[in-house]
Amino acid sequence: MRKITLALISVLAILLSSCGNSLEQKQTKAGFFKAQELFSEPTRPEGQKDVIELKCDPIDTVRIAFIGLGNRGSSAVYRYTFMEGVKIVALCDLVPENVEKSQQTLLEKGLPKADGYTGEEDWKKICERDDIDLIYICTHWDLHTPIAVYAMEQGKHVATEVPAALTIEECWQLVNTAERTRKHCMQLENCNYDFFEIATLNMAQQGLFGEIVHCEGAYIHDLRGHNFNEDGYWNMWRLKHLEKTDGNTYPTHGFGPISHIMNIHRGDKMNYIVSMSSDQFGMSKYAKEKFGEDSDYAKREYKKGDINTSLIKTEKGKTIMLQHDVTSPRPYSCLHTVSGTMGFAQKYPQKGIALEPNAHHFLAEDALDSLLQAYKHPIVEDIEEKAKEVGGHGGMDFIMDSRLIYCLRNGLPLDQDVYDAAEWSSIFELSQRSVENQSMPVKIPDFTRGSWQKLNKVTYHIN
Ligand SMILES: NC(=O)c1ccc[n+]([C@@H]2O[C@H](COP(=O)([O-])OP(=O)(O)OC[C@H]3O[C@@H](n4cnc5c(N)ncnc54)[C@H](O)[C@@H]3O)[C@@H](O)[C@H]2O)c1
Repeated sequence: MRKITLALISVLAILLSSCGNSLEQKQTKAGFFKAQELFSEPTRPEGQKDVIELKCDPIDTVRIAFIGLGNRGSSAVYRYTFMEGVKIVALCDLVPENVEKSQQTLLEKGLPKADGYTGEEDWKKICERDDIDLIYICTHWDLHTPIAVYAMEQGKHVATEVPAALTIEECWQLVNTAERTRKHCMQLENCNYDFFEIATLNMAQQGLFGEIVHCEGAYIHDLRGHNFNEDGYWNMWRLKHLEKTDGNTYPTHGFGPISHIMNIHRGDKMNYIVSMSSDQFGMSKYAKEKFGEDSDYAKREYKKGDINTSLIKTEKGKTIMLQHDVTSPRPYSCLHTVSGTMGFAQKYPQKGIALEPNAHHFLAEDALDSLLQAYKHPIVEDIEEKAKEVGGHGGMDFIMDSRLIYCLRNGLPLDQDVYDAAEWSSIFELSQRSVENQSMPVKIPDFTRGSWQKLNKVTYHIN
């Protein structure tokens, strides 16, 4: 009897396993590859809440420390000399001349000198001070998350240059620290505030394009001259990343604006990504031509394929295409393509908007200008003139800074929250994993852990 039972169990097991196989085969034929869950979502610690629409106490005068005063940090200090309601308390860079240069910027504007720091870990001392509200990070990428996390732990709000994080693990560190400390962590994605991008956000929110179905964003910027310049980026940090990392290593400029248009974590969420990179050709060619066949640069191996393309599918059935290319000789582009059921917008290569019932053609130039004027985002209204005067990528940098300070001073939620920072930066590692596995679909973690359904659109708050 026992033998018969065992035999029956074995037959059943074989039947069940063959069922499983045939199901798998059917799915394979139909193309249903399950996205690989390479990164688990850590459960939210008990008592910890999300920071969706986080409001903090208003700060009358925002006391700021700038860490990293290279190209980007020094121009940020310059912009802040035009800002009301701020006090620049500390300036920090490993290179003493960089600190001195920014001190001069303050002096030229009649502002008091800030405390200068030049030690490798002086950013810790700065974060520990009790007379600073905001830590503004403009170092190379590797220090963004470590400084941001330490700053929040010391009770400071954080604004960090892009990308905020380099790994999924770092993304979770930012999210968990912001949730635990109830501090703001904003990634300084300036492209969200460029005039065309923010007008198209307004248009999308007012339904001009109908249901948004697909968007595209990119960072296509020939940086070879900068990356291979020993006097360029500090310690040639950008080239070093290209040596060791494939995928989309600078996703946020193209992604930020379309992510807000698509209501990511405000009613929709990203589910999975597939990513493909070309091989690497351009950097080796450039290095050989510039430094010679036998040069160290020509012999180095660069992991980063010239052109990376990623596709993302959202929970609500929308698609996103992202591209990255810093190596090819071609004009700059962030794409900024918005495609809906009633209209279409694109910024590059030709700025244009096309609307039903004549969407076969872009609007004529004067009609486009009038439309952009009519849909000017309310946050741009008062500040446009000053932003253009101060500059910073045509003014968008100053709008970004002004919005950050305005929201902090008024105790309002910031335009970009820590989940934006994590989501946009997560493409850095997610695209790598997909690329190195023949473009395998990779599940995108839900950094809000379910709270993405609380809102239905992004709001840039005004008092
Ligand atoms: N949003 C934009 O439009 C934009 C444009 C350019 C750069 N960026 C971002 O800004 C950041 C900085 O870029 P960059 O072009 O200014 O690079 P950079 O190399 O010119 O500046 C980095 C600075 O960090 C300093 N630094 C290094 N280690 C430090 C430490 N331990 N403590 C203090 N300072 C330290 C270096 O001395 C250097 O001055 C990067 O994240 C980059 O991606 C953004």
